[in-house]
Amino acid sequence: MAKTGKREISLRFLAEPADVNFGGKVHGGAVMKWIDQAGYACAVGWSAMYCVTVYVGGIRFIRPIHIGNVVEVHAKVIYTGNTSIHIAVDVLAGDPREDAFRKTTHCVIVFVATTEDGKPAAVPPWQPASEEDRELQGYARKLMGLRSSLDQEVKRFLEPRED
Ligand SMILES: CC(C)(COP(=O)(O)OP(=O)(O)OC[C@H]1O[C@@H](n2cnc3c(N)ncnc32)[C@H](O)[C@@H]1OP(=O)(O)O)[C@@H](O)C(=O)NCCC(=O)NCCS
Repeated sequence: MAKTGKREISLRFLAEPADVNFGGKVHGGAVMKWIDQAGYACAVGWSAMYCVTVYVGGIRFIRPIHIGNVVEVHAKVIYTGNTSIHIAVDVLAGDPREDAFRKTTHCVIVFVATTEDGKPAAVPPWQPASEEDRELQGYARKLMGLRSSLDQEVKRFLEPRED
């Protein structure tokens, strides 16, 4: 039986020449892929089930990542609903010749655990165990509230056009 309840995971990548954008830095798509990979591994580690991304939003690219940098992607469960797992992801990067890693990107990504036929499935509940955890849970809840008004705004663009 697969083990559930692994709350955190960190993945490390090397920013390669293939990740470059037209400005010579790492392109946003590469960073989003790393975020999705770390989030996925974290969601599966928590639930021991197959998970799909249901929402990624509010990605803030704080500073660029340079080619040749080591990139660390930290993913951590900060809230669970019935079938959803909300994961805070922080991306840090630095020159491998130096010790300092600086935060370059932050977001919260939401996964839903699914059954084999793609239906949402219940996940093990996560309970905060410290003051920091409670703050993070509050942050996830606040984003959920903001997202529901955002969803209303976006809704009309999600359905196919009638014309
Ligand atoms: C994920 C998926 C199975 C959910 O199906 P659904 O019919 O929308 O399911 P529900 O309405 O029951 O919602 C399931 C969960 O998703 C959450 N959810 C739905 N819309 C959401 C949104 N915009 N933001 C955050 N969470 C959302 C719900 O809150 C619910 O969580 P809860 O059970 O913890 O309360 C379905 O939307 C899907 O297959 N999406 C495509 C996923 C995919 O292919 N991802 C890869 C990237 S393209």
